[in-house]
Amino acid sequence: MPHAKIAGTGMYVPEHVVTNFDLQKYMDTSDDWIRERTGIQERRFAGRDTETTTTMAVEASKTAIERAGITPQDIDFIVFATLSPDYYFPGCGVLLQRAMKMREIGALDVRNQCSGFVYAISVADQFIRSGMYKNILVVGSEKHSFGLDFSTRGRSVSVIFGDGAGAVVLQPTEEEDRGILSTHLHSDGESAESLAMYNPGTHANHWVQQPVADFNPAEIGDMFMSHSMIDKAQNFPYMDGPAVFKKAIVKFPEVIMEALDANGLKPGDIDMLIPHQANLRIAQFVQQKLGLSDDKVYNNIQKYGNTTAASIPIALCEAWEAGKIKPADLVCLASFGSGFTWGSALLRW
Ligand code: COA
Repeated sequence: MPHAKIAGTGMYVPEHVVTNFDLQKYMDTSDDWIRERTGIQERRFAGRDTETTTTMAVEASKTAIERAGITPQDIDFIVFATLSPDYYFPGCGVLLQRAMKMREIGALDVRNQCSGFVYAISVADQFIRSGMYKNILVVGSEKHSFGLDFSTRGRSVSVIFGDGAGAVVLQPTEEEDRGILSTHLHSDGESAESLAMYNPGTHANHWVQQPVADFNPAEIGDMFMSHSMIDKAQNFPYMDGPAVFKKAIVKFPEVIMEALDANGLKPGDIDMLIPHQANLRIAQFVQQKLGLSDDKVYNNIQKYGNTTAASIPIALCEAWEAGKIKPADLVCLASFGSGFTWGSALLRW
């Protein structure tokens, strides 16, 4: 039975570098605090009027498609993961199809936040296994810089995130021990509000009951988006950092072990672990728990911050470009994020 292999990878990050010191101009924070808690030193911010989630995706996709040895007209299907779409609707998939002048192919948008890329890869793999498509473009792209609170009020969230895009082309392979071996997806909506952007939305206060700092849900009207929400800064993401941290350090190793067990493999068999770049401390905890050496885990959050759905394809592309992923290497992609959702994909390069 055919399954998918990664035939090409691409990435794009905006030119504009924003250091921790730059953020100090807008909020009460410090380079020491950010580095110590997250490992982040700098991130990239997209051009205000010149770049969008879709335009960054176009750049990453061009490289991935070229490296796969095909053209945009050969793509049969798009799976686009993002939490920061150009429009509330339609999703970025159709904007990418238009921008790259692709045929009238299907375009699916995935809304699984930090797990978006792993979910997207899994969906694409199933389409290839079923024989429905041959060249699938899978993209993760985010323009976070447009939706964060850069005042001191929003500092615990805004210092973490950055902009960028990554893409891969999946194609079928008959080689049993190559390509995507298995994918594993999970969710637990119990803590859906722990890492979320409540507005704009239709909840009309139905779900959002717990009070959080500088955010009084009881004051939210039943409007989708109101002037008062904006005045009260209720249009920014909320994150209960410690709750996210506690769950992430359990679910990351669990879902990696699930993938290894499903294939009769052990942590020592992993040649390269690419964890979603949530936080360097989380990645280091996972590395230690699995007993992996430094050269078996790829991290670049130091340079780009957390780019949510884009972080895994950016890291994968960078690791491959640096020669850190070689043919026949066992590569594990693993993610955890808002939802909570988490997942893993195990592949033989
Ligand atoms: N600069 C300086 N101080 C800050 C700050 C910033 N950017 N953000 C928060 N603080 C302050 C808080 O106000 C708090 O001050 P107080 O003690 O006077 O109230 C103090 O630092 C500690 O805040 P807390 O939220 O408890 O910090 P923490 O040790 O939990 O670290 C995170 C915060 C976000 C770094 C940490 O919880 C984390 O990494 N969580 C996981 C987040 C993550 O991975 N998200 C992505 C998911 S995909």
